[in-house]
Amino acid sequence: MDYQVVIPAAGSGKRMNAGKNKQFILLKGKPVIVHTLTVFEQDPACSGIILVINEKEKGDFLKLIELYHFKKVKQLVAGGAERQESVYNGLKACDSDIVLVHDGARPFIRQSHIRDLVLSAQEADAATIAVPVKDTIKKAENLQVVETIERSSLWLVQTPQAFRLSLILSAHEHAVKHQFAGTDDASLVEFMKHRVKIVYGDYTNIKLTTPDDLLFAKAIMESERG
Ligand code: C5P
Repeated sequence: MDYQVVIPAAGSGKRMNAGKNKQFILLKGKPVIVHTLTVFEQDPACSGIILVINEKEKGDFLKLIELYHFKKVKQLVAGGAERQESVYNGLKACDSDIVLVHDGARPFIRQSHIRDLVLSAQEADAATIAVPVKDTIKKAENLQVVETIERSSLWLVQTPQAFRLSLILSAHEHAVKHQFAGTDDASLVEFMKHRVKIVYGDYTNIKLTTPDDLLFAKAIMESERG
């Protein structure tokens, strides 16, 4: 089934400390966002890409779209102060039944996982890529452990996340109305008491957040995944 994807890329990337938006950091000679866009450009099921950007960087993004011949980028939308607002702005430009939300800073997503995710969203209306937590997770207050959380039911949630457009739009509107801020879009759907299905992803689908992530990204690029 066809889908459109909203790609938020309007962050400032403060935690990366690169002095520029992390989307423009080069991996194997190409900006991060080019790697991410290429996956969707090459996916026959993707019918359109809505790229959410900072207006100040519009010229830089337009240059890349032209240089790499991204034909599926149908709209550049201005982002907001927070990721949630950026995604909502992008969703308002969509018109497909199923929409994906995928961080621009996650360039290693596999097409096979996108396929599994879309199938799952068709059945469940909301689904996310995730991987089981490998480490032991403890809750602490003032550096004092207060609880060790049972690991067997914990997942590290990634993007893409896929939704029926009508559901995710109303979830965003409901969140704004109740001043609920989530760190992902699935949590807004959960906040509406709607269930979200998990689809197995893999550990190489990292988000570039802090400088050490670039070490992992380079290693993944050099492997058969790159
Ligand atoms: O900061 P973080 O890595 O969690 O952001 C995830 C994604 O959301 C990034 O691709 C970033 O560019 C995007 N973002 C956005 N608008 C914001 C903040 C983040 O589009 N205001």
